[in-house]
Amino acid sequence: MNHTNITERFIFSDGESRLLGVFGDPISHSLSPKIHNLSLAKLDLNYHYLPFHVKPHELSTAINGFKALGGVGFNATVPHKVPLVPLMDNLDAAALKIGAVNTVAIDENGKFNGYNTDAYGFITALKEKYNEALSQKNILVLGAGGACRAALLALLDEGADKIFLANRTVTKAKELSYDFNQHYPKATITPIPLNFSSLELSNIDLIVNTTSLGLHGEDNFPLAIEQLPSHALVYDIVYSANQDTPLQKLANSQGLTFIDGLGMLIHQAARAFQIWTGEEMPVDLVKSHIFGK
Ligand code: ATR
Repeated sequence: MNHTNITERFIFSDGESRLLGVFGDPISHSLSPKIHNLSLAKLDLNYHYLPFHVKPHELSTAINGFKALGGVGFNATVPHKVPLVPLMDNLDAAALKIGAVNTVAIDENGKFNGYNTDAYGFITALKEKYNEALSQKNILVLGAGGACRAALLALLDEGADKIFLANRTVTKAKELSYDFNQHYPKATITPIPLNFSSLELSNIDLIVNTTSLGLHGEDNFPLAIEQLPSHALVYDIVYSANQDTPLQKLANSQGLTFIDGLGMLIHQAARAFQIWTGEEMPVDLVKSHIFGK
């Protein structure tokens, strides 16, 4: 622990305190406890938000034990977002379409209500820097995993209708395109192989990276960034606290507008906070106090 003073370690609790948390495996890296506890303290709300290291085979026991202890809500991170879906009593539209739950509210009847706030986080962060309509824009999305599903849903809900979906394993891009075309028949979602040397970039308005490429220390993001038009926006949903992501370095080298994953991280948390407490998260305080932005 690294606290500047005793007041940061002191947690006030009484019989009225309500329990929130985040379940993950691993969990120690999660920034969610900081984000939520700072916000709860700022608004003087009597909740505590704790990280729980939950192994996959214990997920069902953990959520029911959490409920038995009076817990009112929790977040889920890797690897629990998809396995939570069948454990919910109700799912919101985003969780249904994405097929993953990242936020759960336990209601007074003990029902588990599953939400997905990642798409909200994604689009809110995008709109902070980009206020043009997405219709008729050429959008290139890299990846076809869980994070990609949230990004796709957000883009389509916001009016995007021309999306190229590039993935290393092209069958996954095909499955995802087929799936989302059922929900959004007016949009054209074109699956393509993620072959960096042959990607057509000269008419792309917005490029979104949802792959984990660059997350594991690979320096190289072999995108021919110079082929993008100068108005193109580059959005990497990865958040890296200590250094620029490889894609960020490329975007900076070309002077392109860039969005990192910090806004998505904070805004998905803000939506969860609002679901549980009914209050607005002090987003600017979170950005400045925790992330120095
Ligand atoms: P998440 O839930 O975070 O999206 P995921 O479901 O494991 O994680 O998806 C990871 C994505 O990154 C996938 O699109 C994956 O491509 P494949 O479907 O071909 O596995 C992509 N990815 C990971 N490493 C990659 C690499 N070295 N090159 C290109 N794509 C990569």
